[in-house]
Amino acid sequence: MNTQTQILQGKIAVITGAGRGIGKAMALYMAKAGAKVVVNDLGGDTDGSGESKVADQVVAEIKQAGGEAVANYDSVATMDGGQSLIQTALDHFGGLDILVNNAGILRDRTIFKMTEADWDAVLDVHLKGHFSCCQPFARYIRETQRDNCRIINFSSVSGLMGNFGQANYAAAKAGIAGLSRVLSLELKKYNCTVNTISPGAATRMTIPLYEARGVKMDPDSPTAGPQQIAPVVAWLASEKASDFTGQIIHAARGTVSIMQQPAFIRTFENDDLWSQEQLDDVMPQLLDAKLSLDELTKEKATPEKVSG
Ligand SMILES: NC(=O)c1ccc[n+]([C@@H]2O[C@H](COP(=O)([O-])OP(=O)(O)OC[C@H]3O[C@@H](n4cnc5c(N)ncnc54)[C@H](O)[C@@H]3O)[C@@H](O)[C@H]2O)c1
Repeated sequence: MNTQTQILQGKIAVITGAGRGIGKAMALYMAKAGAKVVVNDLGGDTDGSGESKVADQVVAEIKQAGGEAVANYDSVATMDGGQSLIQTALDHFGGLDILVNNAGILRDRTIFKMTEADWDAVLDVHLKGHFSCCQPFARYIRETQRDNCRIINFSSVSGLMGNFGQANYAAAKAGIAGLSRVLSLELKKYNCTVNTISPGAATRMTIPLYEARGVKMDPDSPTAGPQQIAPVVAWLASEKASDFTGQIIHAARGTVSIMQQPAFIRTFENDDLWSQEQLDDVMPQLLDAKLSLDELTKEKATPEKVSG
């Protein structure tokens, strides 16, 4: 870690799915930045099956580096799991300031082959898993009038832009963006910011997908591995980000971008029921307006090199 190391001094954080991948990288970084961390992880396989105590290793690493952390093995897929996870922070550290909802699984299939169990498992861990942790945290903020808290949720380009074979995952990840927009409004009066991350990093979840496309990804590279996401999340979790809410930040391959969110682009108005002839005229103009904006956005999103 370079300068401004103690940006989370005195803060208490819960990070879900922090036994591996992006969650682990964030736990290590945020602990170094001064936060006391609850390292949650059920320790399952990528498809959500199985359990293990991977969280213990991360806690040991944090403690070895002089930080403070405690493990929690609850599943975020149940309301009891979320409640118990938030309670772990209150019991061990006496409060909670930052919730990072990162835990995730995959069960990729096309719509033709997807089972109800594939659908439910993915929606439960991702979308319900965000609700199960956000609700007890929000209630705690309101009951204790805790000021300046942070929620950082994890979405994906899969849900925000679409990806073949991931209807369950994309539905959950798009839902998380919607949930974040609402929570950023509902928690504003407590100065709690709510932002969404769309990450891209070489982890056990993505390396096989990259390999299937013939792309080699190095999880130890500072611009490809999970560690690249951690400084961005820590910045959003810090007091520097008190005016930064309701946004979607994409962090991947050494880039950081702000993403568009639904907004009206062009509008026509009619005093009567739309006729088919009117729609023949108006609908292509609406599509043109959208396509021109897409072109402009593509141009603006070309990465600009930053140094120092
Ligand atoms: N890696 C990427 O490029 C990428 C891209 C888009 C979105 N994401 C999202 O980022 C997050 C982290 O992904 P990752 O790549 O680090 O994956 P990962 O598989 O390395 O880590 C996910 C962790 O979540 C834990 N977990 C799963 N179900 C859980 C549950 N019910 N309760 C508690 N913990 C549970 C797993 O045990 C695992 O340690 C996920 O939400 C994922 O969907 C990742």
